Amino acid sequence: MSAHQPSLGDEPGLGSEIPPLYNVVYCSRATADVDDAAVQRIVCAAQRRNAEGGITGMLVFGSGVFFQWLEGPRAAVLALMALLRSDRRHESIVFLSENEEARERLFPTWEMELVSGEHIRDVLQDALNDVHDPHDNAALRALLAEVELRWGAADPALSPLPS
Ligand SMILES: Cc1cc2nc3c(=O)[nH]c(=O)nc-3n(C[C@H](O)[C@H](O)[C@H](O)COP(=O)(O)O)c2cc1C
Repeated sequence: MSAHQPSLGDEPGLGSEIPPLYNVVYCSRATADVDDAAVQRIVCAAQRRNAEGGITGMLVFGSGVFFQWLEGPRAAVLALMALLRSDRRHESIVFLSENEEARERLFPTWEMELVSGEHIRDVLQDALNDVHDPHDNAALRALLAEVELRWGAADPALSPLPS
């Protein structure tokens, strides 16, 4: 798994009918004082703000670790990433992937959905059964593979993040 910072890269393919969708996946460790109530507050505020910026996605929280899938217009997602980087409610942020391509959103109705670590595979498997577009299918399989790396261990306690 390659961990890297998102970068300003090439422009997406021109002439496509579907507008390009920018996507970032990262994981991080919640800081000590962040409990379930704090996570709920993060998600409520995120849903409101993401709706304004055209961002959709999913936040997985389990065993003190966040895993977030963000997709939307490049400028909006990058602006959010800048805020996330300085948010003191999490630390040890590790970028897992960044990608831009013309495809439909994986979770079009989720301004930010909170999913628990134990349910994440069911959610992704359901989504996989629903998508037919090969780009969406590939994006979902990549996400599933990343989740498997983090939540796939027999022991539900997560492996430590690199510090
Ligand atoms: C794990 C985590 C996920 C977050 N996800 C979002 C999000 O999807 N959208 C959002 O607007 N803010 C999100 N936030 C909050 C932002 O970091 C930031 O606090 C928020 O955008 C408000 O910034 P402001 O207080 O400077 O206005 C998240 C914070 C954390 C810790």
